[in-house]
Order: sequence, then structure tokens, then C-alpha cells
Amino acid sequence: MTIDIDKLEAALFAQLADAQTEAALEELRVSALGKKGSVSELLKGMGAMSPEDRQVFGPKINGLKNALNDAINAKKVILADAALDARLLAERIDATLPAFPRFMGKIHPIMQVFEEVAVIFADMGFTVKEGPDIEDDFHNFTALNFPEKHPARDMHDTFFFEKNSDGVAKLLRTHTSPVQIRTMLNEKPPIRIVAPGRTYRCDSDQTHTPMFHQIEGLVIEEGVHMGHLKGVLMEFLARFFEVETAAVRFRPHHFPFTEPSAEVDVRCDRSGRELKIGTGDDWLEILGCGMVHPNVLRQCGIDPEIHQGFAFGLGIDRLAMLKYGIPDLRDMFNSDVRWLEHFGFEPFVSPNLATGLSR
Ligand code: PHE
Repeated sequence: MTIDIDKLEAALFAQLADAQTEAALEELRVSALGKKGSVSELLKGMGAMSPEDRQVFGPKINGLKNALNDAINAKKVILADAALDARLLAERIDATLPAFPRFMGKIHPIMQVFEEVAVIFADMGFTVKEGPDIEDDFHNFTALNFPEKHPARDMHDTFFFEKNSDGVAKLLRTHTSPVQIRTMLNEKPPIRIVAPGRTYRCDSDQTHTPMFHQIEGLVIEEGVHMGHLKGVLMEFLARFFEVETAAVRFRPHHFPFTEPSAEVDVRCDRSGRELKIGTGDDWLEILGCGMVHPNVLRQCGIDPEIHQGFAFGLGIDRLAMLKYGIPDLRDMFNSDVRWLEHFGFEPFVSPNLATGLSR
């Protein structure tokens, strides 16, 4: 009986040294240790050996089997590590590369419209101001010439906080007009500002939500009159809706802090399921405006005999609904990504007057 175990061993270990993939290793394992493998065949042949031969070859063959098995397993780990390293290297992501726009988030229509409005007013020489969402009675009402018993102060419209130890309750601002007061108390005329922000009223239906957005405008300069107010707003609306002249109407109104006052409506059609702008027999109110009341100017230390001004408050959410055909205001705040995917705007394309506002 002559079996050249040493030769087989040398051949198998040479093959092992050559194996560079996990597949090659597996092939080697099957060819040596599988059911019909060369080492397995040797093991099977032991039954037919003489007891003396078996004593010599048994340990050798078993030893080979175990050594090869261990060596294959050890190399498997090494190859798997190397394969993982290679994959990590190949799939490395360069985080400094520009992202592929299709996979990115969208800009909410409200933020888009804030940008568009700010761009138009910036071009007319306005700067942007901000004020706090949590206001006090003075800035939200008193300084704006609201009489003591005015219904807007009522609990039904205003969200009041609990009274503090002095018996005073803060509130969520019901409009952006308190920023007028904050600006006039801090700055000397001429003043030309817009103030975007969130506002709150206890109200909810297709065109009202308890939290909504306004942008306030304030101009205080010598010799400013109603004609300027109308001119600025008409110019703004035409630019915003990207038309020659906007289909709007100025309707006399009352605000405690302006005199005279007006509301501006945009022509629209509410007969179908969707709100259409520019056509139809219906009107949607989008802004309030007027000449700043002399009492408000005096409250802020400005002499109404010298300085006059106008103010306006635009409903941003409604502007967005009208311009972008959004049928229900409440959907804006449902955080449904499908909605945002549909109505949202590409990031990195900020509105500007040179290339267009909305594209
Ligand atoms: N603050 C008013 C509102 O929310 C709008 C407005 C602003 C009216 C400025 C006149 C001047 O209804």
C-alpha cells in the first residue's frame, strides 16, 4: 500500500495558497473534503487497510483533513475581510460632491413665498425685521390703538397664556403689526421695513388655520400718502403674480391702527373643487392696509405733523394658495411628504428678480 499523502498534502496546500477568492476556497474544500473529495476518499479507503497500515495512515489522513479544514477556515476569514475592505473602498462616498437633486427635500411653498415677497420688497428699498411670536398686550393691541373693549382682544380670537404673578397674561401675536411698534420705538424715520413671521388666531377651516403667516410692511417718511401705498401694493401684486396688472380690488375697511384703512381682495373662482385665481366672480382677501394712525405714531414718539406713513399686512399662506393652486390651507401644515413633493420647490434655486421668482 503506497499512498503519497505528503504529495497530496503539498498539492492541496499549494492550491490553498493560490486561492484568492472565497469561491476558489469553496471549490478546494469540496474537491478535498466534500463527499467525493480526495481526502474523503482516502478516509473511506481506510476500512480496507490492514490494521498495521491503518495505524500508520489513519492519524496522517485525519491530521491532513483537520489541518486543511482549519487552514481553509482561517483563509476564509482573511479573504472575507479583504473583500469587505475592497467593497468599502469602491463604494466610498465623497460627501463634498454636489447632491443629486431628485433625492433631496423640497422647500415648503410658505418659505418660497416669503422669499419671493422679500425679494420684491428688497428691490423697492425695504429691509427685513423680525419680532417675537410671544407678545404682550401693549405691542399687540394697546400701542396699536385698540380700544380697551375691542372684540379682537377677546379670548375667542387670541390665544392668551396663563396670567403671571402680576396678573398679566402674555399672548401669541395675532398679527405681525406689533413689529411696527417695535421698529418705530427703536428707529428714527425714514423707515421702510417688511416683517415676516408666524401669527396665531383661534380659527380653522379651508382658508383659516390657528397658526398662519403674515408679512408686515411699514413705511414712515415725510410726505407719504395713500397714493404711495396703493402704488407700492399694486406694483408688488403684479410682480408677485407675474402679470401686467393684478386683478385686485381695494375695499374700505377699519383697523384701529390705520386711518383710512382698506382690505385688498384678489379675484378668484371658488365654484369648482379648486380655487382659481384671476378669473371668476369671487374675491379672496389677502391683505389689510392703511395710513398709520396718528395715535400710533405718537405712542412711538413720532410727530404725526411731520412724519406720515403707511402699513400693510399680507397673508402669506393665502398668497401661496392663490399663486400655486393649493386648494386647502390646512394641508400646508399636515407634514405629508407627498404633498410637499408635489407643491414644494427645488432647494438651491432661490427666487430672484433676474431669473424669475418661481420658474
Ligand atoms: N394686522 C392686520 C391684520 O392682521 C393687517 C394690517 C396690517 C392692516 C397693517 C393694516 C395695516 O388683519
